[in-house]
Amino acid sequence: MNAIHSIAGRLAAMFALAALLVLSILAYILDRELATVLERQQVEQLDTKFKDIDYVLKRLRGPEQWERIHAKLDALTPPDRSTQYWILSDDPQIRYGNALAEIVSISQDASSVGELRIGGRAEPMLIRNDYFPADERHAALRFIVGVDSEPYARTRRAFRTVMLASVSGGVLLVALIGYLITHWGLVPLKRLSREAHALSPSMLSQRLVTAQLPAELSDLAQSFNGALDRLEAAYQQLESFNADVTHDLRTPLTNLIGHTQVALSRERSVPQLVEVLQSNLEDMERLRGIVNDMLFLARANQGERPQQLLRTSLAAEVHKAIEFLDFLLEEAQVHVRVQGDAQAPIERSLFCRAVTNLLHNAIRHSPPGSEIVVELAAAEDHARVTVSNPGPAIPAEHLGRLFDRFYRVDASRTNSGESHGLGLAIVKAVAAMHAGNVSATSRGGITTVGFSVLLDAQDSA
Ligand SMILES: Nc1ncnc2c1ncn2[C@@H]1O[C@H](COP(=O)(O)OP(=O)(O)O)[C@@H](O)[C@H]1O
Ligand SMILES: [Mg+2]
Repeated sequence: MNAIHSIAGRLAAMFALAALLVLSILAYILDRELATVLERQQVEQLDTKFKDIDYVLKRLRGPEQWERIHAKLDALTPPDRSTQYWILSDDPQIRYGNALAEIVSISQDASSVGELRIGGRAEPMLIRNDYFPADERHAALRFIVGVDSEPYARTRRAFRTVMLASVSGGVLLVALIGYLITHWGLVPLKRLSREAHALSPSMLSQRLVTAQLPAELSDLAQSFNGALDRLEAAYQQLESFNADVTHDLRTPLTNLIGHTQVALSRERSVPQLVEVLQSNLEDMERLRGIVNDMLFLARANQGERPQQLLRTSLAAEVHKAIEFLDFLLEEAQVHVRVQGDAQAPIERSLFCRAVTNLLHNAIRHSPPGSEIVVELAAAEDHARVTVSNPGPAIPAEHLGRLFDRFYRVDASRTNSGESHGLGLAIVKAVAAMHAGNVSATSRGGITTVGFSVLLDAQDSA
C-alpha cells in the first residue's frame, strides 16, 4: 500500500512536520542565544587585552621604553595571531604591527569596538583603539587591539552542524515512532479488515468480534454486524423463496411431461388427445399464474408505485369483484354481503386484484351455505377492507406469516391446483403500494383477513 494512502504513513508525516516546526524554532532560539553569549565573551576578551596595554601606554615615561613595549607586544601576540596589536604613529620608532597599511582606514572613534577585515582571514577581527595626542614624551599615536573572531565563528559553525543533525535525526525519529505508534493503534482495524475479508455467503452467520475493540471501532463493527444481520435475513428469505419457486414450478412441469409422455406412448384417438391437451392447458395456466404473480411481486418489491390513483367508491369496486367471481360463489354455495363504504384514492386494477384474492380464500375456506362479509370503513387516515368468513380457525402462530410468499397453513394443500401461496403476499404488496397495511384474525369460528389504503394519497403519490 502506498505510504501516503495509509493512515500510519500520513500520521507519521504529520508528526514529522510538527517535530520539524518545533525543533527548528528551538534551534533558532538556541542559535541566537549562543551568538549573543559568544559576542559578549569576545568583547570581554578584547577589553581585557586592550586595558592591559592601554594602562602601560598611559604611564609612559620616555622614548627609551618603546623597545620594551614592542617586545612585550611581541610576547603577547600568540603564534596563530588570534590577537594582534598595532601602534600607528608618524614616528617610525613608535610604530608597531603587521599590515599597517590596511589599518590606516580605521575609524577615529576612540575606545569604540569595531570590525576590521584583514587579507587572508575569512572572518573580520574585532578591534578596539585609543588615541594618544602628542606630548613631551612621544609623538601622536593610535593604539589598536584586534581579536580574531574565527574561533567564535568556528564554535557557531560546529553548533549549527550539531543542531542540523539533531533536528534531522529528531524529525526522523519522531516520524518513525509516530509510524510505529499508529501502526500499533491500527492493529484492531487490521483485525477487523481480516475478519471482514473472511466473510462469505457460505458463512452467513459469521459476525465481527466486537469485544476488545476500541470504542471508535466498536460502533463501526456493531453497525457492520447489524448490516450483516439484515443481509443474512434477506439472503435466507431469498434462498427459501428460490426453493419454493422451484418446488412450485416443478410439480406442474412434471405433470405436463408425464401426461404428454403417457399420451405419446401409443396411438391415441382425437378425443383422447383433446383430453390430454386440456389437462396440459390447466397445468400451463397454473404455471402462468405463478409466474405472473411472481413478476408482480418482484416489481412491487422493487418499489413500483400505482400508475394513477383515482378517488373511487370502494364498495363499487368490491361489487365488481364479486360479480367477476359469480360462478365460483355459486359453485361453493356461499353468499357475499358488503357492509359500509369509503371513498379512497386507489388504482382500481390493483385494488380489485387484492379483493379478489381475499374473496378467493374466503370462498375456499367457507362451508357451503355460509355467508362471507366484506366490510368497508374509513378510520383516521386509512380506509380498511376486511373479508370475514366462517371456517376452521387458523392457529395464532400462523397468522403472522399468512402474508409471506408461498406460505400455506395446511401444507397438504401445497400444489393443489388452486393454491400456490402467493395470494396474500400480493394483497400485502397492493396495500404497501397504497401506503396501507394488512391484518388477519381468526376468532370464534370466523376468520377475518383485510388490508388498508391511505385516504389522503398526497403522501403516497
Ligand atoms: N379465509 C381464510 N381462512 C382460512 N385460511 C386462510 C384464509 N385465507 C388464507 N388462509 C391461509 O393462508 C394461506 C395463504 O393464503 P394465500 O397467500 O392466498 O395462498 P393460497 O390461497 O394460494 O394458499 C392459505 O394457504 C391458507 O392456509
Ligand atoms: Mg389464496
